[in-house]
Amino acid sequence: MSSAKSHETIQSVLSENRVFDPTADFVARARLDAAKLDALHAAAAKDPVGFWADLAKKELAWQTPFTEALDESNAPNYRWFADGKTNVSVNCLDRHLATRGDKIAIRFEGEKGDTRHYTYKQLYAEVCKLANGLKSLGIRAGDRVVIYMPMVPEAVIAMQACARIGAVHSVVFGGFSATSLKDRIEDAGARLVITADGGHRGGNIVELKKAVDDALAAGAKTIEKVVMLKRTGHEVPFIEGRDLWWHELMAQQADRCDPAWVEAEHPLFLLYTSGSTGKPKGIQHSSAGYLLGATLTCQWVFDLRDDDVFWCTADVGWITGHSYVAYGPLSNGATILMYEGAPTVPDAGRFWKLCQDHGVTIFYTAPTAIRALMKLGDSFPAQYDLSKLRLLGSVGEPINPEAWMWYHRVIGKEKLPIVDTWWQTETGSIMIAPVPGAVPTKPGSCTKPLPGIFADVVDESGEPVKEANAGGYLVIRKPWPSMLRTIWGDNERYIKTYWAQFGNKYYVAGDSAHRDADGYFWIMGRVDDVLNVSGHRLGTMEVESALVAHPRVAEAAVVGRPHEVKGEAVFAFVICKGARPTGAEAEQLAKELRDHVAKQIGAIAKPDDIRFADNLPKTRSGKIMRRLLRSIARGEAITQDTSTLENPAIVDQLAGKA
Ligand code: WT7
Repeated sequence: MSSAKSHETIQSVLSENRVFDPTADFVARARLDAAKLDALHAAAAKDPVGFWADLAKKELAWQTPFTEALDESNAPNYRWFADGKTNVSVNCLDRHLATRGDKIAIRFEGEKGDTRHYTYKQLYAEVCKLANGLKSLGIRAGDRVVIYMPMVPEAVIAMQACARIGAVHSVVFGGFSATSLKDRIEDAGARLVITADGGHRGGNIVELKKAVDDALAAGAKTIEKVVMLKRTGHEVPFIEGRDLWWHELMAQQADRCDPAWVEAEHPLFLLYTSGSTGKPKGIQHSSAGYLLGATLTCQWVFDLRDDDVFWCTADVGWITGHSYVAYGPLSNGATILMYEGAPTVPDAGRFWKLCQDHGVTIFYTAPTAIRALMKLGDSFPAQYDLSKLRLLGSVGEPINPEAWMWYHRVIGKEKLPIVDTWWQTETGSIMIAPVPGAVPTKPGSCTKPLPGIFADVVDESGEPVKEANAGGYLVIRKPWPSMLRTIWGDNERYIKTYWAQFGNKYYVAGDSAHRDADGYFWIMGRVDDVLNVSGHRLGTMEVESALVAHPRVAEAAVVGRPHEVKGEAVFAFVICKGARPTGAEAEQLAKELRDHVAKQIGAIAKPDDIRFADNLPKTRSGKIMRRLLRSIARGEAITQDTSTLENPAIVDQLAGKA
C-alpha cells in the first residue's frame, strides 16, 4: 500500500463529516427511492446471478434469448448470457424508432458555435449508411477498426456502425500522438482507421489526419483503408487508393443495414489504458453484459428519464465517453449533448452557457474541470440560467471536498444531488456511487456500491478490513456483467493484473480505499505505479520509456506530485548521458524532453517538472527508491531511511539543493 502517495487525500477527507440528504422534491420524482433501492439490494444479495439475469431480460432486446446467465467454468474469464444473441446498435437505435423516432438523440455544438442535431431516425440512417460503407470496404464481424476522431457526432456514428456489423472498435483519444496511435493499431491488428481532417480545440486545429499519416508511415501495416471525415476543411494530404472521404463513402450507401446478430460475449470494443508496465493494455469489453451495465447505471445513478438532456463532457476516447456518451444514454433513448472544444473558449463560462442554451438537465464532468473552472471564479456561472439542471456528476479521481462544495453551492445552488461515481475502464460502468433519490451524500465519498456490485476493502491477506477508516485494497468479490473480459492478446496479463493477488478470488481494482462507520467508501488513490493526471491514467513506466527513447537520456524515474487543478502532476528525474546539464542548457533540454514525451505519448503526458541529476537513489541491490523520489517531488522532508542507499549523497542533488 503506497500510503505516502495517498496521504494528502486521506487528510482532507478524514476531516469531512458533512452529510447531504436528497431533497424531498428530487425524491418525489426519482426513479428509485430508498425503498426501491433496498429491494434491489435485497434481490441481488439473495440471488446475485438471477438478479442480473432478470435485468438482462428486461432491459435489453435479444434476438436469441440466453438460457444460462453466468458461465464460471473458466473463471476468472467469466461469460455472461453467453448463448444469447443481440446487437448493441439495435438496442441503442432500432428499438426507439417506433416510439421516439423524431426525438433528438444527439445535440451538438462546436467550439466556434456551430450546431447540429440528429433525431433517432436520422442517427439510425447515418449509422446504417456507415455500416454499409464499412461492409463495402470488406470489414466483417470481428475485424478491428480504429477510430481517431474529434468529439463530433460522427465519432458516435462510427462506434455504432461498428457495433451494427459486429466489428470491434478501438477508439484512440485524439490527444494521443502518432506513436501511441501506431502502437494501438498494431496491438489490435486493425484493418481500418476512421479519422477526420482535423478537430477544433482552443482555437487551434488538432492535426488528426497528419498523425494517422505519420503512424501509417512508421508501421501499422495491417491498415488497408483510411476513412476521413471533413471537419475543419483545411488542406490535408490524401493518399489515393488508401484514403476515402467519409461523405463520398456515405453518399453511395443505403440507409438501412441489417444488424449482425452477435453472441452476447462478442467483443464490442477494445480500449487501451495505462498499467504499471510501459505497454498500455487493450481492455476488451463484451456486447450484452457491457451494455446492460451502461444502460442500468444511467437509470440508477443519473435517474435518466425521457425528458432529460444529458451532458457527459468526457471525450469518446475514454471509457466515460463510451458508456455515458455513445452507449448508455442512447440505449435508454435519451437526448445527449456533445461539445467539441475547450471549456474555456471564449471564456470560463462556456460550459455553463452550453448548459443554458441546450437545456441540460444532467451534467457529468471531472473534478479537474470543476477545479479549473472554480479557480476562474463564480462570476462565470452566475451569468447563465442553470435552472434546468437537476443532477450533477463527478468522475475520474477523488473529488476534494472543496471542489465538491463549490459544485454544490455555485452550480447546484445547494439543491442538486451530486453523484460521485467510482469506476474504471475495466469495470465498464459505474460501480460505487450514490443513487440520488435514496442515498445521502458526503463530499469526497463515492458512497456505496450499486445493487449487484459486491465491493469490499481487504488487507494484504485478503481479509475484509472491518475497522472504520482503516485503509486496504479495493476489491470486487463477485463477477458483474459489464466487467472486462480479458486484455486483448494477453489473457495471462489479465489474470495476473486483476485476479492473482488474492488467488483469483476477487477482482483487484488497483485502488486503495477505506470505509467509514456508515459503510461509505472513500477512494484514496492508486496502489500501483499509475498516475491520475486530470482524471486520465498514465503509467509512470510509459513516461519513463518515452524519456529514455531520447538520445540524451540515460535513465529516468517518474513520480506524481499533487497539483491544484490536475490532481496529480508528472515529475521526472532524468539522468543524462554525459555531463549533467545546468543553467540554460538544462532549460533547453527540459523543453526538448517535454516536447519529446508529447510526441511519444501525447500532450497529457508532458512532465510538469524535470530535474536533472547524476544518479537516481538506488539501494545496493540496484532498486530505485521511489518513495524517496515521491517525497522529494512533493517537497516534503525526507523521513525515509537513506542509509541503505548506495549513493546517499545524491539526495541533496535530487532535491535541487546541490
Ligand atoms: C481510476 C480509473 C471510469 C472513470 C474514468 C477514469 C480513479 C475514477 C473515481 C472516483 C476516486 C476515481 C481510480 C480508478 N477514479 N473515478 N469517483 N473517485 N477515484 O477511468 O482511466 O480507467 O481510471 O480512476 O483510481 O482506478 P480510468
